[in-house]
Amino acid sequence: MTSIHEIAPDLFRLSIYAPAFDMQFNHFVVRDEEPLLFHAGLKGMFPELREAVAKLIDPTQLRWIAWSHFESDECGALNDWLQLAPNAQSACTLIGKLVSVDDFSIRPARGMTPDDVLSTGKYRYRFHPSPHIPHGWDAGVLFEETRKTLFCSDLFHHFGNVDPITTSDLIEPTRQAMAQLQQGPLAGYMPYTQKTEGVLRTLAGLKPETMAVMHGSSFRGQGDRLLCDLAGVITEAFGKA
Ligand SMILES: [Fe+2]
Ligand SMILES: [Fe+2]
Repeated sequence: MTSIHEIAPDLFRLSIYAPAFDMQFNHFVVRDEEPLLFHAGLKGMFPELREAVAKLIDPTQLRWIAWSHFESDECGALNDWLQLAPNAQSACTLIGKLVSVDDFSIRPARGMTPDDVLSTGKYRYRFHPSPHIPHGWDAGVLFEETRKTLFCSDLFHHFGNVDPITTSDLIEPTRQAMAQLQQGPLAGYMPYTQKTEGVLRTLAGLKPETMAVMHGSSFRGQGDRLLCDLAGVITEAFGKA
């Protein structure tokens, strides 16, 4: 069962909870002239997600499919969407396109470079590269400049079947989730580099007011403060030898 919530005007969060991981997998639909799906989702979730998307838009009219980094929960079902929607094109970082996506995908991707803008009609999503944040050489984020919405992928991930959106501080749930994952087979999933703090501060400089979180509640409030705090939490969890 996918739960659907409009977390900002024309921006819908489609959440599928996976009890085995105690984790939500969140996908975002922008309902506009050129509809955008951010996170194509896992192949295994495609039939359920397609049904949920169909409650908002005609899925065959999807125009853009975007994500942060090349992993199955971000883009595993990409080809299913491309088959369903003949005019859809994927948009990812140029690195992602060159290194993985164009070989994996049935149609070539649009390779985004710094400051490129993906327009859906009313809304303009500016691309910001974020190598290795949350992870993956090819990582990048999209920021919508009129509504100040950041698609932040795995940043601020936390466990539980939580509310669609919160104004509470996400730092503590994120810190707990990192500590938990660092004890298991996924340890080291967020590389800490000399650039980590700088990238997070650049994203903070965008002053996002809504942050669309892939695993957990989305956030509404002062995103800049939260991103600066996150830099400290990541340093604490991953930056110590
Ligand atoms: Fe990821
Ligand atoms: Fe993820």
